[in-house]
Amino acid sequence: MKTEADTAPGVAGFNLAGFNTLSIPAIAERFIEVTTPEQLREELASLQASGLQPALILGGGSNVVLTQSRYPVVLHLQMKGIRFRGDGNVTVAAGENWHGFVERTLEHKCYGLENLALIPGSCGAAPIQNIGAYGVEIGEFVTAVRAMHRQSGESRSFSADECRFAYRDSYFKGPEGRQWIILSLDLQLRTQARLNLAYPELAAAWAAQSDWLNESELQITDEAQRLARVVAALRRYKLPDPAVTPNSGSFFKNPIVDAQRFEDLQMRWPGIVGYPLAGGQVKLAAGWLIDRAGHKGSVSGGVGLHHRQALVLVNPGRCRGAAVLDFASRIQQDIARHFAVNLEIEPDQY
Ligand code: EPU
Repeated sequence: MKTEADTAPGVAGFNLAGFNTLSIPAIAERFIEVTTPEQLREELASLQASGLQPALILGGGSNVVLTQSRYPVVLHLQMKGIRFRGDGNVTVAAGENWHGFVERTLEHKCYGLENLALIPGSCGAAPIQNIGAYGVEIGEFVTAVRAMHRQSGESRSFSADECRFAYRDSYFKGPEGRQWIILSLDLQLRTQARLNLAYPELAAAWAAQSDWLNESELQITDEAQRLARVVAALRRYKLPDPAVTPNSGSFFKNPIVDAQRFEDLQMRWPGIVGYPLAGGQVKLAAGWLIDRAGHKGSVSGGVGLHHRQALVLVNPGRCRGAAVLDFASRIQQDIARHFAVNLEIEPDQY
């Protein structure tokens, strides 16, 4: 299906505000729904023949800051399909909704993704930033990513090693990787549930399930399915619903510092939160830094920080990308001034 922007004089095209969870307004001059890899290849070829580059590839729009007011062409990826291949092997198309996919895997008794329940966005976007929550990252389960090159239309598979998964990072976030459009993912899930309760906040909620789940959820016998419900309840409590308050989850990455630097910071700020990593480095909780600097819940000119999670930037004023980035940059400067720590923006900017 092709949805061309309205080209009638005076009509300003297709508004992308409903296609990004920060509700940033921007115009797509052409907005094309892509439902198959073959169609994608054809669209890319015809754009190239007419000298146009797709400025923007959109999936669920949950990890993107639109920085321009107009985009000549937007491709909206809608490829669907989930295939269970046995023994925990599953292939999912890029346009499937992530949370719907997590639920389907659990129904099929394929385990491992329960801690990643209710993360907004599409399956195709998930490996780009190696989505993670409550001590689990998707990169632990991906065995291959199939992708199409924007210029040549070539399709190929990337092995897990080639994906170079790291904390909120992968090959697909870098300049070369951005040339590839993800079509589908292969995952190896577990056939036996093994609950990961390493994250203290999740362990506490699991231990107090009756505070988080309703009567019918408490009856769910499959523990992994029940854990996914606890994760969803925690997220609903702590994180704003993008349908109500525009946001894109954590807006900054948790900064990584060396052990010496962490000790210095601890001397000055005894309550500082840090998670030790392999190799002696420490991941600081950026939410704590922003909170401690007094910005939690602050709003300025329609952009702000969530009152329950300072790491989540909210855009209730549905402001443009420039205003969002301007607000973020003031927070970055203030955190650098307070703690001499650099905060890196997590969502992609286009
Ligand atoms: N904290 C505060 N004040 C705040 C926010 C957090 O003091 O306003 C403290 C918390 O008390 C806690 C620590 O900071 O001690 C960490 O907070 P939290 O457990 O909420 O996790 P996070 O590090 O802020 C990360 C991910 C989230 C993920 C959660 C749970 C990143 C950038 N964010 O947040 O992912 O859901 O852990 O695993 O790594 C996302 O990426 O969009 C996202 C929501």
